[in-house]
Amino acid sequence: MMNDISIKSVFPEKRSPIYPEDLKQQRVNQVRTFHESVPGYAATSLHSLPELARHLGIKNFYVKDESSRFGLNAFKSLGATWALARILGEKLGQPVSRLDFSFFKRPEIKEKIQEMVFVSATDGNHGRGLAWAAAKLGCRAVIFMPAGTVKSRKENIEKEGAKVQITDKNYDDTVRLAAGVAKENGWTLVQDTAWEGYEKIPSWIVQGYTTMAAESLEQIISLGDTLPTHLFLQAGVGSMAAAVLGYYVNLLDRSCPSTFILESARADCMYQSALADDGRPRVVGGELNTIMAGLACGEPNPFAWQILRDFSRGFISCSDGVAVRGMQVLANPMPGDNSIVSGESGAVGPGLVHCLMTDPKFSDLKEKMNLTLDSSVLCFSTEGDTDPVNYQKIIHGSKL
Ligand SMILES: Cc1ncc(COP(=O)(O)O)c(C=O)c1O
Repeated sequence: MMNDISIKSVFPEKRSPIYPEDLKQQRVNQVRTFHESVPGYAATSLHSLPELARHLGIKNFYVKDESSRFGLNAFKSLGATWALARILGEKLGQPVSRLDFSFFKRPEIKEKIQEMVFVSATDGNHGRGLAWAAAKLGCRAVIFMPAGTVKSRKENIEKEGAKVQITDKNYDDTVRLAAGVAKENGWTLVQDTAWEGYEKIPSWIVQGYTTMAAESLEQIISLGDTLPTHLFLQAGVGSMAAAVLGYYVNLLDRSCPSTFILESARADCMYQSALADDGRPRVVGGELNTIMAGLACGEPNPFAWQILRDFSRGFISCSDGVAVRGMQVLANPMPGDNSIVSGESGAVGPGLVHCLMTDPKFSDLKEKMNLTLDSSVLCFSTEGDTDPVNYQKIIHGSKL
């Protein structure tokens, strides 16, 4: 049932890591400078929840709240805006070091890009971010969504002026369909996952997500606190987690927080890859039926998988109940803490930490993760209530 808590974990052997060149500081700075030039940019809030930390028996609990990102209720526009800037910059011969939003709004440039059509498959958030970015730049977007997509997610993308179609396929097959349509029509596929022969644009999307990682570290430092000791990152195809972990590991190296990759048990391709422990990614098929719609992806981004494989400490497969726990905990804060509206795919990290610290049945796992009174935990609430009907049902559901 939706409230059932089940948690599986695997802690693979350490491998010799390859540091992600693409996510080095100079590139991260270029991405950030570009994002700052996009109208409406503002760093999202990082909440420190001291009362929850005290209640759980850890030192600090930080939640970076992406629900206010560009007014789109999720972090995904960071990837789409940067990818479009790189695609258009390349087309126009504009060097990456000089990408600035205002450049694309010059009349002579606008005319050159207005016929561009960008295509993608999405569970909701990436497509909304892409449609928004395309509209801001005066281009068009065509978006495909998997079977079972809720109406409000489709409508939110249509509001950004994109053409949207819900398919009868799961997420991964919808990605293949979008790739075929792009090829047939000579349109540009902007997909947030990679495969052999399609790597450049997804790698730009990953770079785009580093802005939220960079903001998080600056915000923690500005609070006068020490570096986080634990990072909990949820994964669909793994691009978001790879961006954040890649950023932290390049910058902090051995002081990088212990990082755990969290997935829905219904789409736990990273967990299955880690369990197989031969270094290669694994695929999970079927309906991928989970309330964590943003994490309902069965095929890892191979580039992201390498970073997660090489630098994370463990992989955790979570039942839907873990996300429910996180949504309820963040919506009903301890007196003195802020409340956070966190959707299904955003709340699984806080939900997991809450389960580990409050339920004695997870005490071995808690110990293995070294979660103690000295721990400073950082989670990313990557979406707000992107399915508002389900959100209301869940937060007004049964008490913990
Ligand atoms: C809200 C939310 N969180 C996390 C993710 C996971 O990102 P990725 O697919 O890059 O692993 C997604 C992906 O769509 C998402 O929408």
